[in-house]
Amino acid sequence: MRNLLVLFSLLCFSFFPISLSICNSSDYTILSLAFRQVSGFKPIQGDRCEQIHNITLPSRNLTGSVSWAVLGNLSSLSYVDLSNNSLLGSIPTQFWSVPSLEHINLARNKLGGALRLGPVRRGRSSLEYLNLSRNRFTSAVNISYLEALELLDVSHNKISSVPVGLKNLKKLKHLDLSHNSMHGRLPQDLPPLTALRFLNISYNNFSGEVNASILKKFGKSAFIKAGSIKFLNSSSTNSTSQHPKKNKRTLLLAILIPISAIILSLFLCTLCMFTTKRIKKQQFKTTEKKAKDAIALAIEDSETGWVAEAKCTAPVVMIEKPLMQLTFADLAVAASGFGRESQLAERGGRSGPAYRAVLPGDLHVVIRVVESAHDMSDPEAVTAFRNLGELRHPNILPLLGYCISGREKLLIYEYMERGDLHRWLHELPAGTPNPEEWDDDTGEVTGDWPTRHHIVLGVARGLAFLHQGWAGSGRPVTHGHLVLSNILIGDDLEPRIADIGPLDNAGTPEGDVYQFGVVLFELMTGQTGWDEALVNRVRGLFKEGKELDLLDDRLLIDGVEPDWQRQMVGCLHVSYLCTAQSPEKRPTMQQVVGLVKDIRPVSIATSSAAS
Ligand SMILES: *[C@@H]1O[C@H](CO)[C@@H](O)[C@H](O)[C@H]1NC(C)=O
Ligand SMILES: *[C@@H]1O[C@H](CO)[C@@H](O)[C@H](O)[C@H]1NC(C)=O
Ligand SMILES: *[C@@H]1O[C@H](CO)[C@@H](O)[C@H](O)[C@H]1NC(C)=O
Ligand SMILES: *[C@@H]1O[C@H](CO)[C@@H](O)[C@H](O)[C@H]1NC(C)=O
Ligand SMILES: *[C@@H]1O[C@H](CO)[C@@H](O)[C@H](O)[C@H]1NC(C)=O
Ligand SMILES: *[C@@H]1O[C@H](CO)[C@@H](O)[C@H](O)[C@H]1NC(C)=O
Ligand SMILES: *[C@@H]1O[C@H](CO)[C@@H](O)[C@H](O)[C@H]1NC(C)=O
Ligand SMILES: *[C@@H]1O[C@H](CO)[C@@H](O)[C@H](O)[C@H]1NC(C)=O
Ligand SMILES: *[C@@H]1O[C@H](CO)[C@@H](O)[C@H](O)[C@H]1NC(C)=O
Ligand SMILES: *[C@@H]1O[C@H](CO)[C@@H](O)[C@H](O)[C@H]1NC(C)=O
Ligand SMILES: *[C@@H]1O[C@H](CO)[C@@H](O)[C@H](O)[C@H]1NC(C)=O
Ligand SMILES: *[C@@H]1O[C@H](CO)[C@@H](O)[C@H](O)[C@H]1NC(C)=O
Repeated sequence: MRNLLVLFSLLCFSFFPISLSICNSSDYTILSLAFRQVSGFKPIQGDRCEQIHNITLPSRNLTGSVSWAVLGNLSSLSYVDLSNNSLLGSIPTQFWSVPSLEHINLARNKLGGALRLGPVRRGRSSLEYLNLSRNRFTSAVNISYLEALELLDVSHNKISSVPVGLKNLKKLKHLDLSHNSMHGRLPQDLPPLTALRFLNISYNNFSGEVNASILKKFGKSAFIKAGSIKFLNSSSTNSTSQHPKKNKRTLLLAILIPISAIILSLFLCTLCMFTTKRIKKQQFKTTEKKAKDAIALAIEDSETGWVAEAKCTAPVVMIEKPLMQLTFADLAVAASGFGRESQLAERGGRSGPAYRAVLPGDLHVVIRVVESAHDMSDPEAVTAFRNLGELRHPNILPLLGYCISGREKLLIYEYMERGDLHRWLHELPAGTPNPEEWDDDTGEVTGDWPTRHHIVLGVARGLAFLHQGWAGSGRPVTHGHLVLSNILIGDDLEPRIADIGPLDNAGTPEGDVYQFGVVLFELMTGQTGWDEALVNRVRGLFKEGKELDLLDDRLLIDGVEPDWQRQMVGCLHVSYLCTAQSPEKRPTMQQVVGLVKDIRPVSIATSSAAS
């Protein structure tokens, strides 16, 4: 019987795409969590499984964003190959702090943003191989932490300056920086060229002077259009053809040049006007074609019927960046034709489906389809969206732009990598606050009481701001659907209220106050599934003086300052007030802000700013 079991598990494991060695079930939990937002990833059920060393999933059609910080919790992870997929997003510093990492290949994805490295958690980095080729990274900082690195391939990205710290990588043997737009100087920005065995800096913007012998060593093809580099021969100076050659007939030219320059520039100007027009038209045509292809593909594999009706030429109005000229077609391309792969799993959204996209300039956004606006006329919609765009507050998710394409109306918001408050409170590994995931460089422990208080205060401020109304109008903006999944967390740990209906100005301010009270109950108790009955039960318990039983266990871990418990109870009291049966007994949001502020006068924002 036992043998059978062993045989069975052997059989099972040999089909897993991931190699395993020693048993540890929690590694599988971490893995599933890390790939929660990746479509195409097949969750692996491993109840009695092992520590994960290797993640080898190249060319699997994986789409979406890996939660790298969660993945970084795999304590034995050493080998990662996720190349040739469609992974999006950026990679936070925490991921690189895993000391066991040795080999990482993320080439051919859509990863972007800045690559920020940090010190390894305990000990030194053992990363030897790092391939980030063909992504959309824009910069790399503190790469010198990868002191064991032997191979670095960041070719075909959008990095504009030489990775900071590159020159300190003494063990580097293979370095490919080609096809970026790096401005840098040779040789001082690169590691010692004598130690390198392979180098490619083609298609960049380097300058400086190096010994011509490196041409022989690395080959001429390592320096194709690499910038204006001078190759010094032992006797004479030589340079690449990008530098103008001196001519004997300089005198003649000195006279001719100014005259011809004027004529030439006039000519060029006219030419320019014509060609840019043509190029724009052509560019547009190719985008439109791409959009149509993408949409056709998306329609094939999903129920996305609505896109087919939309007009590709409809302009996108960008509120903060009016110079960014985009059309519906660009949005469609950026959101893979609004197919299922880029659709966000929505819990709280009521307006319609939402999609994730990366716009030109590496702008990560969420595109929301406002189904409730179908029957609105264009001018009405423009007014409504403009009003929405005017709602600017640190605790309101800002509207970046909109696009009106016939019946279809789309809103564009910033994408919040950290997700929503529901996930933050309930879905982190093992249900506990996880410092690795949530604190970047600030060092504060998140999920604890000071952080929760900070978030509560932010939500209260955002809602109070809404209730003040559109600038000047005096008519309050109500939310009508405040739940944890409608509150997003910014990188700065500031909450941002999302899903503010542009049209369905639903409910009343008092209704919002009630919903805020429920959100606060949820944050303080850690309970889920709030309906009227639960609210009433919790209110009853609070009234009976059982408030300490109500508090989330995770808030009462060791080392909680005695004063904090009093503050937490104070917050429960605010919830109690906000959820009063009769609307007129509830405080206003403005009053709530005062109450919450007084409960805990120093918020973490001010304390960390002071330190
Ligand atoms: C991980 O994968 C690499 C390459 O496929 C292999 O050399 C190594 O032995 C694997 N390690 C484990 C622990 O399976
Ligand atoms: C399982 O992993 C945890 C940390 O991820 C580690 O502390 C524990 O020792 C591991 N257990 C086994 C049996 O490897
Ligand atoms: C990338 O994956 C696709 C399938 O998704 C495959 O057709 C292609 O050959 C792969 N390319 C490389 C370089 O592995
Ligand atoms: C990836 O998806 C395409 C179509 O979407 C399919 O043809 C191909 O077989 C998939 N590749 C893999 C490796 O699953
Ligand atoms: C990095 O990955 C790309 C794409 O898969 C591949 O073409 C390239 O050879 C890899 N670079 C190295 C140095 O292995
Ligand atoms: C790089 O690391 C050092 C610590 O070694 C730190 O002081 C510095 O701020 C880091 N730079 C960036 C840009 O993160
Ligand atoms: C290189 O730099 C020059 C001047 O700084 C700039 O005009 C040129 O466009 C750059 N080329 C590339 C490919 O970035
Ligand atoms: C360097 O990169 C360029 C552009 O990708 C390529 O044409 C050239 O062959 C490469 N040179 C070497 C030495 O790999
Ligand atoms: C560069 O110098 C070497 C000797 O060091 C000489 O053989 C070679 O011809 C020179 N090349 C040029 C282009 O002058
Ligand atoms: C270039 O390097 C060669 C050997 O690597 C050396 O003999 C020569 O003197 C160097 N030339 C210059 C100009 O530094
Ligand atoms: C400079 O280099 C080019 C080709 O690299 C060569 O044709 C030319 O003769 C060289 N000139 C000098 C002065 O070394
Ligand atoms: C993640 O790692 C931290 C410390 O490295 C640990 O405290 C936490 O329990 C880990 N989480 C999981 C789910 O393993």
